[in-house]
Amino acid sequence: MDRRLFVRLGLMAAAAPLFPKSLLASSVSDRLNVLSEEPLRRIAFGSCNDQTKNQSHWSWIARENPQLWIWLGDNIYADRATLDQRRDRYQSLKNNPDYKKFIDQVPVIGTWDDHDYYNENADGSYADKDGSKELMLEFMDTAWDHPVWARPGVFQSYGFGPVGQRTQIILLDLRYFQDRNKNQKSLLGELQWQFLEDEIRSSTADLILIGSSLNVCSPVVFASLEGWQAFPAEKQRLYNLLASIDKPCVLMSGDRHMGELYRIILPNGKPVYEVMASGLTHAIGIKLPSKERQGEPVGRKHFGLINIDWTSSGPDVQLRLQSAERSEVYHSLATNFAF
Ligand SMILES: [Fe+2]
Repeated sequence: MDRRLFVRLGLMAAAAPLFPKSLLASSVSDRLNVLSEEPLRRIAFGSCNDQTKNQSHWSWIARENPQLWIWLGDNIYADRATLDQRRDRYQSLKNNPDYKKFIDQVPVIGTWDDHDYYNENADGSYADKDGSKELMLEFMDTAWDHPVWARPGVFQSYGFGPVGQRTQIILLDLRYFQDRNKNQKSLLGELQWQFLEDEIRSSTADLILIGSSLNVCSPVVFASLEGWQAFPAEKQRLYNLLASIDKPCVLMSGDRHMGELYRIILPNGKPVYEVMASGLTHAIGIKLPSKERQGEPVGRKHFGLINIDWTSSGPDVQLRLQSAERSEVYHSLATNFAF
């Protein structure tokens, strides 16, 4: 059904309560609603998925029984595609039997990066960004009544689990508002910063996960290797924000076609972790300098997994980079949020 017609039907339903509410909810949003009551224990995520390549990784991810899948960008490759071409490429992934089977079992949320948004390193100047947003949210089966439809960009926030076992997942949009031409370069844009700061400062969660399509912690960036490091004022603003709250925080990222785990210590002594899972269909391992990376980079096809154990006083969180081709854990890190 055309989305505009669906939204109009939704508005009619709001005015006429006899309209069956169940007709307004997609199966994905139904499953997200059910999940919102349960403690999150296992989350899988990944990025850099060329839809023209073999998609057999979905069966390896499904074996881990994740409660939720998070797309972290470059979910398809549609560089310089028209909106019609981009729609077709999303549809070709959605028609893939392996992916189809996976999303029948696992609810999906996510954000985008340059190659699915528009083009290599694309920023907020892309003229069709609202059309691209609509295609992306339709691909994710985002509920028609989700507030993301009504505001610019694709940034979102979700809460899962009961009080005391609550996980908040904030997904950032690093494309729609990005501006590298101003004197003061901008990555998130002020509207999204206000959203992020409000969400984090008012959070009642026991664990905060932040999805950023671009790597946050790496000190290395250059023309074709993007990251928060190219926006030092905003990287510092994010670190200051995370230091200002007394809650465990994990960053999830993608984009670089390799897997890495980072542990950083903020100036107030608070540890923050980043797990970069980047390379569902293609990956290379380049050892870039970083004092904060834990272990070696993963250069084989992989996905990320976060296991959360709520049985102790605080959440025990394990970060994993796992093979997308076989039953093999490439890298595993037990977090320690104490400081
Ligand atoms: Fe990217």
